[in-house]
Order: sequence, then C-alpha cells, then structure tokens
Amino acid sequence: MDRWSNRFLLVLAVAGGAIGIGNFLRFPTLFAQYGGLFLIPYLLSFCVLGLPLMFTEWILGAMARDVKMNSLASFLEVYHKNRVLKYFGIAALSACLIISGYYMYIESWILGYGWISATGGFKNMEASAMGDFLSSYMTMGDGVCDILCIVCLIITLFLNYYFTAKGIAKGIATLIKVSMPLLMIIALIMLVKVFFTPGSFEGIKYMFQPRASLWDTKMWIDAASQMFFSLSVGFTATFTYVTYADKNLDISNQGLMASFMNVGMEVLIASFIAIPVSYIAFGADKIQDVVKGSSIAFGMVSMPSIFNNIPGGQFWSFLWFFLLFIAALTSSLSIVQPSASFFCNKFKKSKVWGSVMSFLVCLIIIVPSVLCAVGIDEFDFWANSFIVPLGALFLIVIVYAIGKEKCWVCFENNSTSKLNDFMKFNISWATPFFLIVVVVLYIFNYGKEIITCANYEPEKIPQVILCRGLMLAIVLIYALIIHFKKIKPEE
Ligand code: ALA
Repeated sequence: MDRWSNRFLLVLAVAGGAIGIGNFLRFPTLFAQYGGLFLIPYLLSFCVLGLPLMFTEWILGAMARDVKMNSLASFLEVYHKNRVLKYFGIAALSACLIISGYYMYIESWILGYGWISATGGFKNMEASAMGDFLSSYMTMGDGVCDILCIVCLIITLFLNYYFTAKGIAKGIATLIKVSMPLLMIIALIMLVKVFFTPGSFEGIKYMFQPRASLWDTKMWIDAASQMFFSLSVGFTATFTYVTYADKNLDISNQGLMASFMNVGMEVLIASFIAIPVSYIAFGADKIQDVVKGSSIAFGMVSMPSIFNNIPGGQFWSFLWFFLLFIAALTSSLSIVQPSASFFCNKFKKSKVWGSVMSFLVCLIIIVPSVLCAVGIDEFDFWANSFIVPLGALFLIVIVYAIGKEKCWVCFENNSTSKLNDFMKFNISWATPFFLIVVVVLYIFNYGKEIITCANYEPEKIPQVILCRGLMLAIVLIYALIIHFKKIKPEE
C-alpha cells in the first residue's frame, strides 16, 4: 500500500500543498491593496473557514483511509449507503482539475522567468519595461518568448506527471523531503536580503497603513477566497493526502501545524519580501495601479526589476523564481492528486494510468489557458469563487450525513487531544453560515456582470462562453464516471 512513511512528512506535504503562488503572489497583492485592515477579515476567515475546513478534511480523510479509498467520491460510494452522497464529490474534483490546469501554466511562467533571470535577460530592465515584457510573455503567439514558454510548459507538465505517477512514497514524499526544507531556507535568505535593501522599512510601514474600510464587502470576499486558495481547503487536496496516512495520525497537532505553517509563510515571510520590494520598485503612487492590475505582476515584475540593478542581482532574481517554482510545484502536485486517485480507485488501475487519465482531462483546461486571452481569468474566477465554496459547503453536508458525533469520535481516535466545542460549533454552524454569506455576497455583487459578461469586450464573449462550456464539460465527465462506473467490492 502506498503510504507516507511518517507523520511529519504528511504535515510537510499538506503544508507544501498549501504554500504556493497563493502565498507568494496572491496574498501580498491583497495585503498591499487593502493595507493593514485586511488582516482582520483574513484572520477571521482563518478561524471560521480555514481551520474548521482543514480539520474536516483531515477527519474525512482518516475515515477514507480506513476503507482504503483516496478520493472523496469513491469514499462516499463505499462508505455510505445513501446513493446520492457520492455526487457531492464532483465539486471538489472539478475544482481541482480546473485549478491545476491553469496553475501549472502559471507555474511554467515562473520557470521561464527563472531561466531568463539566470541567463541575465532582465539586466537593467526598469519596472515599467518589465510590465510590458510580462504581458508579452503571457500572450502566446506574439513571438516574444513563445518557444521558451512552450518548453517550460512541457517541462512543468512532465515534472507534475512524473511525481504523480510515481505515487506518494516514491514520488511526492521524495520531493517533499528535499523541497520543503529548501523552500524555507531560501525564503529566510530572501527575507534577510530584503530587510537590508535600502527603502524596505518604508515599504513595511506602507504595508500596514489601512487603505480600505471594514465595511468594504469586496475585502471580506477577497479574504475568504484567499483562505480557500491558500490553505487549499474545499477541493480535497488535504483530504486526499490524509487518506495515504498510516494508522499513526495526530489530527489535532498535524492539522494545526500545517495550517500555521501556511499562514506564517504568507503573513510573516512572503508579504515582508514582496511588498517592500514592490514599494521600492514602483513607489507609493504607482504601487496601487499594479496591485489592482494582476497579482502575478506584483511578484514577477517588481522582484527582477529591483534585484537586477544591484550587484549579484542576477543570482537574487533567479533565487526568487526558484523559490516560487518549488512552492508552485509542491502545490500543483497536491491539486492534481485527487483526480489521479479518483481514476485509480474507480477503475482499480495503476498510478501511472490514473495520472495519464488526469492529465488528459486536464488538457481541457490547459489548452484554453494557453490560447484564450480570457482563459485563466475565467477558470480562476469560477473555480475559486463558486466551485470551491460549494465544495467546502458539501464537506459540511457530508459531515451531517455521516453524523457529527461519528466525525468527532474519528477526530478523537486519531488525535492526542479532543476537538474543542468552539471548533465543533464552527464546523456545524459558523462555517456553513459564512460560506453561504460569501456565495450570496458574490452573487449580489457580481452576479449580473458575470452572466452578462459585462467586463469583457464583445469580441471576447465567444471565448468566455467556450471556457464556461469547458468547465461544464469537466463537471459532466466526473458526474458520468461517478454515475456509471461502480467500484467493485474487494474479492
Ligand atoms: N494553496 C495553493 C497556493 O496557495 C494552491 O498556491
């Protein structure tokens, strides 16, 4: 049986799955946009959404491990007599596949940027020129770095396929053992480097100044959606990793450790690297235009433009992209895994076969992410704003269907301490309430413009419809497999 060889490795893998582009690019952008007050909705989302959902995934994962299933849909099929419940796994599976598709493409840009940095391609480029370069790099077919872009995408897809196909013990665990300590060491080195870069203290002061009101509903929605993305909750990445644990689980400590490593990495390390550097690169006037433009630009434009103009800058810039790439790779592996495990469980075939099938379905998202100008925005928006909160809500429905008491007992049997009443209250009431509020606020704030495609120029609307149709196709593919392919009982 494929398993994590020890408890700490599972913590590192869950933390590695969580720590990714969301920590280093997305969080600092939101923090810089809203200022210090952003920490209030963020930390509240952590207590009411992040931690309870994290524990829910660990509890359900431990139950699935006991029946030797590694995907939510297959676990529900064999564990629960209710025939409808297994369909509740569709949201998480679809979210994983959609996110992993565009995520691996962004990961490949980071690889490309690492290569350009290492070979001195950014030397003496100013922040404004760097912004234009990024737009060209991201546009396939305009002749700027197209070949590099495709080569990096192939390497990234291959690495993800390779480690997934090798499985947990021989593939992902081997990578995690090396990559996580490396990631932490490089992050700390970068932090010290930024600390001693002239101007960084002004950047830190700027970071904490409030730039939004607490009544800004968009800030609350952004904080909640950042929590899902960053902790990777709601799309069963953690659940799937936990199903590969041995008998020796300690959910209370392991769950807390992985969650705090993730929050610590984005609040205390990533922000203190990315925001001061961006402040130095763009200045107080321009920084807000950049933050509102794109979260990717923030880390990909400011870092090389600052580092490439100082002695040894080529090396520092490369180190930054290397750090980002390790973080992104360990995250994308965790997001691909639920789908690969689903195919293995359902068809009782090898890890290689499960991985090939997952990557084939993933092409439905990867190809339009590369070729359609609206692809990444559409996939990111729908997956993180609707499918993931829905998937998270389904996790709570599943807790109710299985029985709350049974879930609390599972937690206690697999922990050194009890689940406290506050957490039980959150999982039972506060989390679903907050989830419903987030989805309603989203529909209320953006529903009309989403349906009418108001944010898009008319010529882009066919592409938007195509991308939405493809996401629907993914949902249908999983629904049909879950419906028609039954898991045969063990002989
Ligand atoms: N949790 C992953 C990230 O933050 C998806 O990048």
